[in-house]
Parts: sequence; structure tokens; C-alpha cells
Amino acid sequence: MLHDAVALLRCPHCRADLAADPVGRALRCAAGRHTFDIARQGYANLLTGDARPGTADTADMVAARDAFLRAGHYKPVAEALAAEATAAAGTPGTPPGAVVDVGAGTGHYLAHALDAAPDRTGLALDISKYALRRAAKAHPRAAAVVCDAWRPLPVRDAAAALVLNVFAPRNPAELRRILHPQGTLAVVTPTAAHLAELVATLGLLRVDEDKQTRLDTALAPHFTPGRAQRIGFTLALGHEDIAAVVGMGPSAWHTDPAELRARIAALPDPLVVTAEVALSLYSPL
Ligand SMILES: C[S@@+](CC[C@H](N)C(=O)[O-])C[C@H]1O[C@@H](n2cnc3c(N)ncnc32)[C@H](O)[C@@H]1O
Ligand SMILES: [Zn+2]
Repeated sequence: MLHDAVALLRCPHCRADLAADPVGRALRCAAGRHTFDIARQGYANLLTGDARPGTADTADMVAARDAFLRAGHYKPVAEALAAEATAAAGTPGTPPGAVVDVGAGTGHYLAHALDAAPDRTGLALDISKYALRRAAKAHPRAAAVVCDAWRPLPVRDAAAALVLNVFAPRNPAELRRILHPQGTLAVVTPTAAHLAELVATLGLLRVDEDKQTRLDTALAPHFTPGRAQRIGFTLALGHEDIAAVVGMGPSAWHTDPAELRARIAALPDPLVVTAEVALSLYSPL
């Protein structure tokens, strides 16, 4: 595991600094009482016993996400995040610290952000080991750590110049704690228009109209809202792509696979689908 990334971490039990053992197979806290494995695939497991792994993306969901993102369907989102990474961590005068992606999945967006912030170390946090097997290899300057976003994060105070949170769970107090006081939080959420054609025909979960207001309200005790933009584009999706975009999202938990296949088979191929997300920046209070 990257030396620079280990220096960002703290023990999830006693909050002491962590260091890698000489052969790089484990992380040990300064108090010496707690040891954590580094998996063969390169990610460290800092999950504690009280984590809630039930929401972790499964191997199938991660494979679907990887295929869909690699095909470039969400390229406008990756490009917009990369532009913000340049502004927040890729230009002189920006605060010190890493780029930390909370709920990073395969590390796709983190890798784009690191390309735009050439001196920074990246940290992918996620509760799914299937996602982190990929994230650990997503970029030469990225490391990957299994943890629960609803628990105190195993990251040192003020360690991040930029925190990314893309379609993923967020604990506002912890995002604030790990950010440098002059740092930036970048949050991407779907709008009510996102994949609307599929939501209607395939019975997917809906995004409610006031998601943005709820996001601002949830973050308000710790952050002030800054620039926000809507990123809208159209996708021409074949049946395989449609199966992937459904399989990688929250509806994968709620949809019967056979029923879904039948409904997809009845759609035009390709189908033109709206993609629309909000990219919102926040500064620590
Ligand atoms: C919809 S995916 C988004 C992944 C990535 N940000 C992207 O857009 O490609 C949500 C991610 O959050 C992760 N996740 C779910 N519950 C979590 C938790 N409690 N702590 C950390 N990660 C969690 C899932 O494993 C999954 O990788
Ligand atoms: Zn410890």
C-alpha cells in the first residue's frame, strides 16, 4: 500500500496513527494493539465489528458499474469533477492534502480527479471489497480502504484538500472532519430527470424532486454551499447498457432479474435516455 496513503489513515478503534508493517501485509496502530490486513489485491480492511455491510455493492453490481463507466457513458460527469479537482487541488495556492472519495466504488471518478491534481495522493473509501479490488488499481497514486461511511472514517483530521462523494452515502460531520479548513467537498447526486425514461418503463426507484434541498439541509451544520451545476446529456443505450445501468444502481436491490430482462427486451434498441446529475460544491464552516 502507498506510503503516502498510510500517512492519511488513523486506527478505527483508538484513532492513533497507522503504519504499515515491514512486509506491507498489514497496518498497525501506534498504540500497537490493533492490526488490519492488507489484502492481496492491495486494499486495506479497516472495517470495525459494528459496520453495516448490508449496503455494500455486490460483485455483480460492481461488474455492471465497471462496464458502464468504462464505456464512457458518464464521461461528462467525470470531466466536470476533474475540472473541479483542478480548481480545488491541482493549482498553486490550493490547500495541502489528499483527494478522498467516500463511497468510491471502482475508483473511476477518483482516477479522473487525480489526473487533474498531479501532486496529490488519492484514497478510495468504500464498504464493498469487490469495488475496492478495482479501486486499488484505478490509479498509481490511489489507495483503497474498506470502511463504513456511517461510522467514524479511518482518516486523520483535515487530511483531505478535496473530498468526492458521487452517488454514495455521506456522513456530514465526518466529511467535515477529514477536510482541510480551506478544502472542498464535491457531491454528485442524480436529479429527478436522471434516467427518467428507464424509471418509468422499468419501475426503478425514483429520485425525489427536493433531493438538492435535503442535501443542503443535511450538510448545513458543517458546510456552506458554493457553486452548483446541473450536468445533463443524452445516452443512446443498447439492451446490455440498460441492464448494466440498472444492475449497478440502487434498483438492483429491488428488481426481479427475470422480470427486468423481459421488460428490457421489449424496449427499442438503442433507447435514448436522459442523464442529469447535480454537481454541488461545499466549503467547510
Ligand atoms: C451507487 S455506488 C457509487 C460508486 C461510485 N461513487 C461511482 O459513482 O461510480 C454507491 C457505493 O457506495 C458504497 N456504499 C454503500 N454503503 C456504504 C457504506 N455504508 N459505507 C461506504 N460505502 C458504502 C457501495 O458499495 C457503492 O460502491
Ligand atoms: Zn488502535
